[in-house]
Amino acid sequence: MRRVFRLLVRVVPLFWIAACRDGPVNSSEAVSDAPADSASTYLGRPIAPPLGHAQASWFDRPSRETTEFPDRVLDALRLTDTMRVADVGAGTGYFTFRLAPRLPHGQVYAVDIDSASIADLARRRDSLGVTNVTVVRGTVSDPGLDSASVDVALVVDSYHEFSEPEAMGRALVRALRPGGRLVLVEYRAEDPTLAVEPIHRMSAEQMRKEMAALGLRQVEAYDGLPQQHLLVFGR
Ligand SMILES: C[S@@+](CC[C@H](N)C(=O)[O-])C[C@H]1O[C@@H](n2cnc3c(N)ncnc32)[C@H](O)[C@@H]1O
Repeated sequence: MRRVFRLLVRVVPLFWIAACRDGPVNSSEAVSDAPADSASTYLGRPIAPPLGHAQASWFDRPSRETTEFPDRVLDALRLTDTMRVADVGAGTGYFTFRLAPRLPHGQVYAVDIDSASIADLARRRDSLGVTNVTVVRGTVSDPGLDSASVDVALVVDSYHEFSEPEAMGRALVRALRPGGRLVLVEYRAEDPTLAVEPIHRMSAEQMRKEMAALGLRQVEAYDGLPQQHLLVFGR
């Protein structure tokens, strides 16, 4: 009996870890250099604690291909090959390194605040020999992009984590070139079937409200993603 108990004690946690690897976002595992204050709110929305580099395998999980359809996201942006695109909250570069080949005469700015993510992005860029990716370490209130420097600021599953969304938003608006677009992709708060914690989701109405506070209006919406809103904002 004691041998069975000892065996269970060893084996059960392994099943638990395996189950969690591809499971819903668990904010209790959030790790980042960024100050995390999950009690903060912005325009009535609780701000999520940032998910740092410790979640890298979650960001790169293979199932994302068939749940978040990254190619559909990038197709929806209708990029031309000379565009400059900022991937803001780049994480492991899941979108950065899918964007780079689509912009052969353009540039990708991979922006993050997390030092381990920044180091990994640079390492991955160098090991892949990609020449059109610039890695930018931002701060919680400033993405570190020049004024009027990007055609598209793409923010996937990250905006809801910005601890200073208004300051970041204003800096992103400044970074847009004339006619530039700010694109937000966020898990739908309205979908009761999603296995993603509420704090890591946003409603379309809330997204529009927060962008309106920056002087932006929704110019487009892509509804081909099963779990997320993809809303496009312009001046
Ligand atoms: C959930 S991850 C998403 C990563 C990536 N966009 C993806 O889809 O795989 C959120 C990322 O946003 C970053 N982040 C949080 N606040 C940020 C801020 N103010 N500026 C830039 N990046 C930020 C975190 O460090 C983390 O890498």
